[in-house]
Amino acid sequence: MAEKTWGGRFKEEVDELVDRFNASIGFDRALYKEDIEGSIAHCKALAKAGVLTEEESGQIVHALEEIRTELDKGPYPNEDQFEDIHTLVERALVDKVGQVGEKLHTARSRNDQVALDMRLYVRNASGRVMSLIQEVRKALVMQAEDNLDVILPGYTHLQRAQPVLLAHHLMAYYEMLKRDWQRFEDGLKRINVLPLGSAALAGTTFPLDRKFIAEQLGFEGISANSMDAVSDRDFVLEFLFDCSMVMMHLSRLAEEIVLWSTQEFGFIEIPDAFCTGSSIMPQKKNPDLAELLRGKTGRVYGHLIALLTVMKGLPLSYNKDMQEDKEGLFDTVRTVEICLEVAARLMSEVSFNKKRMEAAAAQGYLVATDLADYLVRKGVPFRRSHEIVGRIVLKCIEKGIELHQLALEEMKGICSEIDEDVYDWLDVRKSIGRRTLEGGTAPEAVRNAIQEAKQELGIET
Ligand code: ARG
Repeated sequence: MAEKTWGGRFKEEVDELVDRFNASIGFDRALYKEDIEGSIAHCKALAKAGVLTEEESGQIVHALEEIRTELDKGPYPNEDQFEDIHTLVERALVDKVGQVGEKLHTARSRNDQVALDMRLYVRNASGRVMSLIQEVRKALVMQAEDNLDVILPGYTHLQRAQPVLLAHHLMAYYEMLKRDWQRFEDGLKRINVLPLGSAALAGTTFPLDRKFIAEQLGFEGISANSMDAVSDRDFVLEFLFDCSMVMMHLSRLAEEIVLWSTQEFGFIEIPDAFCTGSSIMPQKKNPDLAELLRGKTGRVYGHLIALLTVMKGLPLSYNKDMQEDKEGLFDTVRTVEICLEVAARLMSEVSFNKKRMEAAAAQGYLVATDLADYLVRKGVPFRRSHEIVGRIVLKCIEKGIELHQLALEEMKGICSEIDEDVYDWLDVRKSIGRRTLEGGTAPEAVRNAIQEAKQELGIET
């Protein structure tokens, strides 16, 4: 292992096993850009505070930029010999500029340094995740708009319930993802808080201009308590939760794609390029992509629960347990990014089997609620009309027919208030057309929702 940044107090070399167990370079290298960005801002503040001369600061900033370019290209020589990315960058700096480089860590600890790196990382990741969410929202709106005339059964308990527009069903997912986007946006307020100046835990004796550092890094504020600042990972947890919520939504969408692509449903066709086959059953075409979207949700939830558990027993302030915040976060970002990318592609590539959906909506007494509403309009209290329609449905089940196929006399036999105009209420499309309230499934309501969505996304209407 390369020389320690903290070797002075130690008489013995650290055991090789300890190095291996303790080191985080194997995964925190992912933070090098953020680490260097933070160090540059810190360096400028040190110059402003008179700890570094302008010339020294210029030299350090220049060297840090060079190091960033080198790390962009690939591994640093003997990279795995370093304890963590902070140690590596500092060593690389000293190698370049000599003793001046040893001044950079003034008024700073790895505790506030890593807190800052994580904030920058989570901010960047939030931005990427947010723009990928927009792609899925776009795909959903476009499919909704292209399929405005398609109807299908809406389900509760996975039993046919009431007819709805496919566009309405798709726009339900749009709403979920819109809330997801807003959640990340809101999280930025709490991410954009500067921890530097907290040093190890108690603050620093040097007159750092914290607001100046915050401005350089595009942060909205500075942390109010140094002990909180070095031990706070709420923003990581919040991000992991927001990602878990996205995955839960994608998983629900994926489950519907799996279900709808079965021969039993036959509602959806996934292009060959987005399916896989079986190694033994030649006829198979499997919706693996959707299954993986569903399946990968588990690991993201796992990372959230893991970090909540890491944090729950920690006394103030920094504890090494917190190093465990990284691998789960990095895996979450990778997972959510590819899942959103896949979901966007999948949703723009699938096609819908209009006939199958419409046929399904025509069977199973989906307009029973409409019939009850009709009776209410004839003056029957709803509870009674519910009971009456239940009996009418039972009669139809016994006869093996749908509601609109039942003769008027038979209906009248059960409820004398029923007239010829009842058939108008037993038409599936008319049932949809009557739900014109904001948020309902009537074509004009859904068209409005689509228009609004397109405006939100900045799509030409
Ligand atoms: N690798 C450490 C982490 O991720 C960096 C901070 C180390 N601080 C310390 N006092 N040992 O948390």
